[in-house]
Amino acid sequence: MTNVRDSFHSRIGFILAAAGSAIGLGNIWGFPTQAANNGGGAFLFVYLLVTLLLALPALYAEIYIGNQAQKNPVSALGDACSHFSEGIGRKAGIIGLCGAIMMLSFYTIVAGWMLAHTLSSMAELAGMTQASAWLANSSTERNILFTPIFIFLGAAIIHQGVNAGIERWSARLMPILLVMLIGLIIYILQQPGADKGLEVYLIPDFARVTDPELIISAMGQAFFSLSIGVGGMMVYGSYMQKDKDMGKLVLSITALDTGIAFLAGLLIIPALFVAEHAGLDVFQDNQLIGEGQLIFHILPALFDSMGTIGLIVSSGFFLLLSIAALTSTISSTEVPVAYMVEDKGFSRKKATWLVSIIVLCSSGLLIAFFDALFGAVIRVLTTILQPLSCLFYFIVVGWLWKRGNKLRDVSLQKDRKWLALWGNYLRYVCPVLLTVVFVNVAILN
Ligand code: PHE
Repeated sequence: MTNVRDSFHSRIGFILAAAGSAIGLGNIWGFPTQAANNGGGAFLFVYLLVTLLLALPALYAEIYIGNQAQKNPVSALGDACSHFSEGIGRKAGIIGLCGAIMMLSFYTIVAGWMLAHTLSSMAELAGMTQASAWLANSSTERNILFTPIFIFLGAAIIHQGVNAGIERWSARLMPILLVMLIGLIIYILQQPGADKGLEVYLIPDFARVTDPELIISAMGQAFFSLSIGVGGMMVYGSYMQKDKDMGKLVLSITALDTGIAFLAGLLIIPALFVAEHAGLDVFQDNQLIGEGQLIFHILPALFDSMGTIGLIVSSGFFLLLSIAALTSTISSTEVPVAYMVEDKGFSRKKATWLVSIIVLCSSGLLIAFFDALFGAVIRVLTTILQPLSCLFYFIVVGWLWKRGNKLRDVSLQKDRKWLALWGNYLRYVCPVLLTVVFVNVAILN
């Protein structure tokens, strides 16, 4: 059987695609919302720590496994565990794949909000005030309309293959998003009330940094933001030629992703305080009002304050966010699609549409039982499933590797001192650290 796998054409192409997967709603919606709910600076501090100590190594392990195996995550984990138990590896891959579907089920809903806001600003520009107001207000009808539109858009890109769109799109759009974020930050910091937000965001209250609830949220957010633990990064790693020097790649992806999250916080947290200063109800008992939807009121209010130019900025901003969400959606969808194509013999097109229908059903369920399911699914995915997958990756790379598994011809290079050190860090420190945090989660729940 000739099985020509699609692939990225260069290291930079890989970095951009992986950064495209990492940078998304997690950075601009998830991170600022969580930071605002968890004391600002304390959250930022713990988030940076967890990213460095755990998420970055997990990202390395995930990409490494995929890169060495050159197969979809289910087969890759199966091969990596083959000496021990191929079945267990494959099962872990399937659990990750379910995580990818879970991620898509809520992510496509929030991405739909972004699309709606893009159109809302455009409608207002065109003088269609009523339509604009309908599009800007969250409602079940709006979810029912925009979630499928978003899923359809993603599917239309994915069925063409990995490098046709992803590489090129990410390269052009990410820099524009960055410039826009910086411009908006400069603007918001000049508004009354912004100082207070800046203070809350940048000066950690160290009394809070040991709060287990905060640590768990920060860990979940870091894993989510770097797209680890569902196989998305593994499948991208498998589309890159075998690479001996992955450290730099992983560092660049982490730096880009964390940088954008930091900037989004620098925009949104001061914006929340500007809104509060202007008389809006923003917090209730130190928590943001309304399931993370508040920033969608705050951002339009911010754009409104800019006058007509605000409408142009607003539509551009939400459009970029929709696209950032699209590149993240693509990597998650690629997990089940690659599995169905490579292991089950589906055509790429059929696999894409089938996965899209599954996602449509699961996000439909979330829309129907929004209050009960939406927050719960996010929490289960980010604080349980993703960390558990990462623990498994650490064990695979640290302990099961080279013990005669199908990938034994390759191993972490031992010839360089720092790499041996790094290997030991992945092997001993990461699993212990992660387990400690995890036991805390269990006790807390
Ligand atoms: N990292 C993406 C974001 O921050 C979300 C994501 C999670 C994408 C898991 C793929 C896999 O928006």
